[in-house]
Amino acid sequence: MTQNTENPTPHRLYGRRMGRRLHETRSHALETGLPELGITLPENGGGIDPFSLFHMQVSEVWLEVGFGNGEHLIEQLKANPNVGIIGCEPFMNGVSALLNDVPADMRGRLAIYPDDAAALLDRLPENCISRTFVLFPDPWPKKRHRKRRFIREENLDRLARTMKDDAELRMGTDIRELGFWMFIHTARHGAFHFLQKGPHEWRRRTPDWPETRYEQKGIAAGRRPVYLRFARNLRQRP
Ligand SMILES: C[S@@+](CC[C@H](N)C(=O)[O-])C[C@H]1O[C@@H](n2cnc3c(N)ncnc32)[C@H](O)[C@@H]1O
Repeated sequence: MTQNTENPTPHRLYGRRMGRRLHETRSHALETGLPELGITLPENGGGIDPFSLFHMQVSEVWLEVGFGNGEHLIEQLKANPNVGIIGCEPFMNGVSALLNDVPADMRGRLAIYPDDAAALLDRLPENCISRTFVLFPDPWPKKRHRKRRFIREENLDRLARTMKDDAELRMGTDIRELGFWMFIHTARHGAFHFLQKGPHEWRRRTPDWPETRYEQKGIAAGRRPVYLRFARNLRQRP
């Protein structure tokens, strides 16, 4: 596994940052919400204490990579009152939707990194994240673009470094080939083990796994999503 904290590789983000022009309410949510809940990486290249990112005290820190409009993230905040969630999303329309929709009493348990999750992961300490979600990530279906997929060796290294022992990594997709890719890459990486042992468990969401917008779109288009649950292996201790 590579360590990324001392010599972070330059980050290159593919995909959209802005879509339709924002409605006034949404741009207001962005203008007021990002200074309050947005994460800025220290300019000196220093690290970040994830617990310090929240205005409320939390007992665990979870991470959602590519939260889209934030529906899943909000449901997880509602269901887990002791958890703080860091959401990473470079698409500003999505960030504004989350900021607009998150209930006021949950804002203290939300922190937003409006950019590439890899850059944030490089600033987090080892062994600090209790759960990670990578739900319906961009599929990059063309062969020459597959190296842009979020689940790939160097990002699995980043997750392996920052996730706690036994922490769960949840991934979903409605693209069959990407499901296979995410399964194979994670299973072969060496720091994670597959949690679903029963037949066809990967066909169903667990009850504590709210639906996402892209999942709904995929199902409406006749595709059958896969739901993958891995856990960080226990670290070898001397
Ligand atoms: C297909 S959408 C899925 C959104 C949401 N998870 C859902 O299921 O409805 C994938 C999202 O991942 C975001 N994304 C892509 N690369 C990312 C990265 N490196 N870090 C964080 N988010 C990323 C995109 O901007 C996009 O909004």
